[in-house]
Amino acid sequence: MLLGNNGSGKSTLLRILGGLLTPQAGEWWIDAPVGFVFQNPDHQLVMPTVGTDVAFGLVDEHLPLADIRARVDDALAAINLLDLKRRPIYALSGGQKQRVAIAGAIARHCHVLLLDEPTALLDPDSQIDLVMRVRALVKERGLTALWVTHRLVELDYCDRAFLLQAGRVTDDGDPARLKAILQR
Ligand SMILES: Nc1ncnc2c1ncn2[C@@H]1O[C@H](COP(=O)(O)OP(=O)(O)O)[C@@H](O)[C@H]1O
Ligand SMILES: [Mg+2]
Repeated sequence: MLLGNNGSGKSTLLRILGGLLTPQAGEWWIDAPVGFVFQNPDHQLVMPTVGTDVAFGLVDEHLPLADIRARVDDALAAINLLDLKRRPIYALSGGQKQRVAIAGAIARHCHVLLLDEPTALLDPDSQIDLVMRVRALVKERGLTALWVTHRLVELDYCDRAFLLQAGRVTDDGDPARLKAILQR
């Protein structure tokens, strides 16, 4: 997890790692396919239903229809959305939309998930549900997630935390220790 005040550079760092922004200096590398999850899922869900939206991310891969179906079903099952496959996007809650965005990344076989304040628009129950599901995905599928948050309670679900201040990592390590410092 990545924490830091507004303007400290969290979104900028994520955009660079996700290839959405080119830095003016320095080097970076990620040697695995990366999926980006925006704060507001309405900015990245483009198709009318859950299943078609997840399939849409695969169009460039020119897969046979059966393979697309299998990838979509696997991704939806991974984040417990299979029951909602035919549900219109407009009928979903915010937390369900975030899960559709994550399923899109899983279907594309992304090994790294970059999530920029994915819980900012969620109520506390959906917030904890989402963070637990992403943690389960990380553990079950061996993914890496870099999760930006302001909410200290979410630190209970991560393995490592970074504090960003004015564009620099000023602390890094055990989440419980960082949580205690930030709670003061
Ligand atoms: N494309 C850009 N070019 C130059 N400066 C930017 C750009 N995007 C953001 N910034 C600036 O970089 C700083 C960090 O912004 P941001 O990464 O959005 O912070 P955070 O997500 O931690 O709130 C801010 O001062 C912001 O105005
Ligand atoms: Mg930001």
